[in-house]
Amino acid sequence: MLAPTGPNSPFPKDFVWGVATSAFQIEGAAAEDGKGPSIWDDFCRVPGAIADGSNGDVACDHYHRWSSDLDLIASLGVSAYRFSVSWPRVRPTGAGAWNERGLDFYERLVDGLLERGVKPYLTLNHWDLPAALQASGGWSNRETVHRFVDYACGVAERMGDRVSAITTHNEPWVIATLGHETGSFAPGIRSRAVAMQVSHHLLLSHGLALQALRAQGCSSRLGIVLNLSPVLPASGAPADHAKARLEDGRSVRWYMDPLFRGAYPADVLEHLGADAPKVEALDLAHIATPMDFLGVNYYTRAMVSAAEPWDVYSGGREVTDMGWEVYPEGLTQLLLRLHRDYPVPPMYVKENGAAFKDRLVDGHVHDVQRTQYIAGHIAAVGEALKHGVRMEGYMVWSLLDNFEWASGYEKRFGIVHVDFTTQRRTLKDSGLWYRDFLQRQRAAHSLGSTVATGA
Ligand code: FCB
Repeated sequence: MLAPTGPNSPFPKDFVWGVATSAFQIEGAAAEDGKGPSIWDDFCRVPGAIADGSNGDVACDHYHRWSSDLDLIASLGVSAYRFSVSWPRVRPTGAGAWNERGLDFYERLVDGLLERGVKPYLTLNHWDLPAALQASGGWSNRETVHRFVDYACGVAERMGDRVSAITTHNEPWVIATLGHETGSFAPGIRSRAVAMQVSHHLLLSHGLALQALRAQGCSSRLGIVLNLSPVLPASGAPADHAKARLEDGRSVRWYMDPLFRGAYPADVLEHLGADAPKVEALDLAHIATPMDFLGVNYYTRAMVSAAEPWDVYSGGREVTDMGWEVYPEGLTQLLLRLHRDYPVPPMYVKENGAAFKDRLVDGHVHDVQRTQYIAGHIAAVGEALKHGVRMEGYMVWSLLDNFEWASGYEKRFGIVHVDFTTQRRTLKDSGLWYRDFLQRQRAAHSLGSTVATGA
């Protein structure tokens, strides 16, 4: 699959190319400099919760290695770095006193990025809720909505003048569904009614945070990041079609409809019955507060059948180490559908990448499959651009191999290999390819030359 560069390339000169990480997955320093515990710190202690029994205590030790990690980011030639702030690092109990040392860390990070010519893209909630807030119900408690708005305003007051964009939540579907319905992610709750209430509170806190940030004069562009996939029936059977429609409702329309149409989808509400969330007057108007961008995370399509649980892959194509089908066409299909069905602002792919079983041999990782995966998905974004979809950026998940949630350190998504014993970083072939691709991209834009190079 070719990733296009040159004058025929659909990517404009100011297209934002980036790499992404999140706080809990890379920082470590779990109890240092006044950081409070998060629900993921607690969840990692539950026997059997994490595949390899690991935790985020050290992770990539990024809290101490941030400066050389920023050098690494700059060496790739990306224009942006997407990272998240750990709420319990800057406000240990989620409310009350702020932790200056935590805030200082993120200020150093932001200033360090700017010094290196890389735009900071900040995410406020990449899942690591302060454990103290979980003790009073976490996201199922409407009070948490207001604590989140306070947190957003405090962070923005400190560094909102220097970050290009602020994302409220990363993947509310994952927090609600995996965290509160299947219980496979923190905080490990298993109740559909709770999950739906959580999803509503996440959306409400997003809308209210946008309003509060704008009211305080925040100059960053504001939006949310959703994990979205085309959801397809595994067969032509009517029952599979009905299931696919419902799962599309629960994973795509449940978030897109209130954000862009001010209402939850009627078919999903009917299906949920008594498990539907409690919604107060004006909540939906707040949720639909206009955004400056929509972030989309895309990894694969979903194929569902009435007989199987959600997310069953049943095609015959290549799969990644997560068991996720490699299906770049799905990204074009998804972006075209969002563009067609909703009044979306400019969109970004905020995460895209793949886990494979890498082997570090003589200082090299020949991760051909990951390179092809990334090149193929960049081409898929290019297709969407050619069809008139307003796309402003693409970010690879992830910069570093890191703590992959319930999979622990067993799944490697980085374009940089991390040896978790020595903390040594090694640029994989995919990282070298991305760096060269970006270089060709820049050269083509400044020289007007015709280049088209594949993976
Ligand atoms: C996404 C998460 C990210 C990472 C990738 C593989 O759902 O946002 O943190 O785990 O999946």
